[in-house]
Amino acid sequence: MIDLRSDTVTRPTPEMRRAMADAEVGDDVLGDDPTVAALERRTAEVLGKEAAVYMPSGTMTNQVAIRVWTEPGDEIILEADAHSYFFESGGPAALSGVMCRLIAGQRGLFTADQVRAALRPANEHFPRTRLVCVENTHNRGGGTVWPVRQIADVAAVARQAGLKMHLDGARLWNAAVASGTSEAEYAGHFDSVSVCFSKGLGAPVGSALAGSAEFVARARRFRKMFGGGMRQAGIVAAGALYALEHHRERLAEDHANARRLAEGLAAMPGIQLDPATVETNIVVFAVTAMPASRLVERLQERGVLALPLDAASVRAVTHLGVSSDDVDAAIEAFAACLARP
Ligand SMILES: Cc1ncc(COP(=O)(O)O)c(C=O)c1O
Repeated sequence: MIDLRSDTVTRPTPEMRRAMADAEVGDDVLGDDPTVAALERRTAEVLGKEAAVYMPSGTMTNQVAIRVWTEPGDEIILEADAHSYFFESGGPAALSGVMCRLIAGQRGLFTADQVRAALRPANEHFPRTRLVCVENTHNRGGGTVWPVRQIADVAAVARQAGLKMHLDGARLWNAAVASGTSEAEYAGHFDSVSVCFSKGLGAPVGSALAGSAEFVARARRFRKMFGGGMRQAGIVAAGALYALEHHRERLAEDHANARRLAEGLAAMPGIQLDPATVETNIVVFAVTAMPASRLVERLQERGVLALPLDAASVRAVTHLGVSSDDVDAAIEAFAACLARP
């Protein structure tokens, strides 16, 4: 199977498995797992933050960040297709009791003016707006990369209004490789940063939430409350640390493969796609020849897995389990599926 459903499907490499098998461990809830501590230190360093905390998932790091920055009845500003709003099971309402003020973005990106327009006057009738969330790269937007200048402009409006800035950087690594802007430079515009090791970096488990020491201390409390304290977590943290040190630069290969796939698909009747919009490892395209679900079923019969995003669009994602030969084979499979009446 050529699995293009997501970059979360990657399996640990033999070297990563060895690092995990050899990991020194302790009880991380009691604070003495050396491998988790090393991963947290190294992540904070890469992001240029004081501290970081390891958690089981990117959903948890996002939702803990929202919980740290808000109180029930507050409001947060997000893009309408943001993962934290769209794909996290109603977490902001259920776990933090906050309202979501949505901005309609362009492929997931929004402007400082749009944030300004969403601000509320200080008045007891309104919820208190506390936080602006940015997703980089933007998943539903199709792996879109934020220009750092645009983030700086958004952050300036947020700061002036006394709002905190949170970055959902599940794929910040991809954004850094694609843009040449370092993770730390992006992170410098945010009060909290979530990053995932289990997406393009290819580790089996985990995400980290970074920020000031004070922020992270509070985040640790909510991690425990939400059930995210793990004991001998060094086993999985070792895979994450291996991925952080060895799998960042290779993301350029995934981006090249995604662009090749996009160019192949764009030439096919029945698919609408501008390959220039493919900036990283996510390819989102419209299917006009048949329902998206039918195309995905046909692909599966030919050994290619992709995800229907809605009735008329499909997502394909490249990752370390997909070679350029796999991309060629996938393009052939797409062509054959679309050619069938
Ligand atoms: C942008 C983004 N944020 C957060 C997450 C959540 O990560 P997890 O699946 O580890 O909960 C994902 C997952 O795909 C994502 O794409």
